[in-house]
Amino acid sequence: MKSQNQIVDILQLKGPLILAPLAGGPSTPALVAAVSNAGGLGSLGLAYETPEQISSIIKETRKLTSKPFAVNLFVPTKDPDLLPEKTELAIKSTEKYRKELGIPSPQLKAPYSIDFDQQFESILRERPAVFSFTFGLLDHHYVEECRKNNIITCGTATTLEEGISLEETHVDWIVAQGIEAGGHRGIFSASSEDQMIGLFPLTRSLTQKLRIPVISAGGIMDGAGIAAVLALGAQAAQLGTAFLLCDEAGTSEPYRKALLDQKDRKTKTTRVFSGRIARGLENRFMKEMEKDPDVILPFPAQNVFTRDIRKRSSELGISDFLSLWSGQGIDLIRQMKAEELVSVLFEELKTYSA
Ligand SMILES: Cc1cc2nc3c(=O)[nH]c(=O)nc-3n(C[C@H](O)[C@H](O)[C@H](O)COP(=O)(O)O)c2cc1C
Repeated sequence: MKSQNQIVDILQLKGPLILAPLAGGPSTPALVAAVSNAGGLGSLGLAYETPEQISSIIKETRKLTSKPFAVNLFVPTKDPDLLPEKTELAIKSTEKYRKELGIPSPQLKAPYSIDFDQQFESILRERPAVFSFTFGLLDHHYVEECRKNNIITCGTATTLEEGISLEETHVDWIVAQGIEAGGHRGIFSASSEDQMIGLFPLTRSLTQKLRIPVISAGGIMDGAGIAAVLALGAQAAQLGTAFLLCDEAGTSEPYRKALLDQKDRKTKTTRVFSGRIARGLENRFMKEMEKDPDVILPFPAQNVFTRDIRKRSSELGISDFLSLWSGQGIDLIRQMKAEELVSVLFEELKTYSA
């Protein structure tokens, strides 16, 4: 596929396609390598992994592909100081679910996330082709360190203002994440209101106002969607939901079942699983917990707090309590091997770019 495209040219991709980082299970070395081997750019979502796991997952991916791939982390968030009353309220509100699932009440204490500097050290050591991140800006020195180590940096913006701030920190690329997107919203502040900007106006304003390449993400499921964002000025499309049913994805069985169940399948944004806004298929936990937003702990404490519930739900094979991250394009999801999906996407794109 011929290009006049910085992302495709620099990484020598077959086409302008990026597999989204899919932290929390779906992201596997096999999936990432399959996409990169097929000529797209695979991304490992490693935000929840320890520095040691980050190194070993990157090494494992390298055994499966010699092509470039990206690694993605979350910009660190300060741990919230939780008043005991607030924690009590959260425990009470989820007591019935833990009882139903046969798990004890949790002990909740900081830290609620893995040390970012140590995670970043692993990235520098392993030197993936691209380091992408979400949830805000990174201090200039991280971006500089990547540059010195020949690692391309890529931040995430959900508004034009966020995009401008990212460009000012000298990142190389920006992901424009529209409201359609599955998974966590990349909004800089976890407590901010969501401006809910659609991918179409967001892509267009970022490509018109910024100088660096823009990658569009959110609800893109086929070649027509990729062609549409290229027409708006994006240099690549980042697809997440489209790959969740691929054989190589680590998507759990109950999650797969829910993605395939066309009855009542609708996506919504919610804070109930992590304390941060994210889009997923509506299920029982979401419906019931949404009734009282005051019991939701701030990010990332709520993420740690609901982990045992999600884990047990998965073990029992039920999707009622899982975070079923998925984008608005869910009706177009396809089930095939990742390599085949990438080549189908490139074929479809050809017909639209002819
Ligand atoms: C299961 C899942 C996990 C995700 N994890 C991450 C992540 O770790 N880091 C990140 O930057 N984005 C993450 N995202 C968001 C994607 O980067 C991207 O914005 C989104 O998948 C695009 O929308 P789509 O799912 O409709 O294609 C995730 C999305 C999904 C569906």
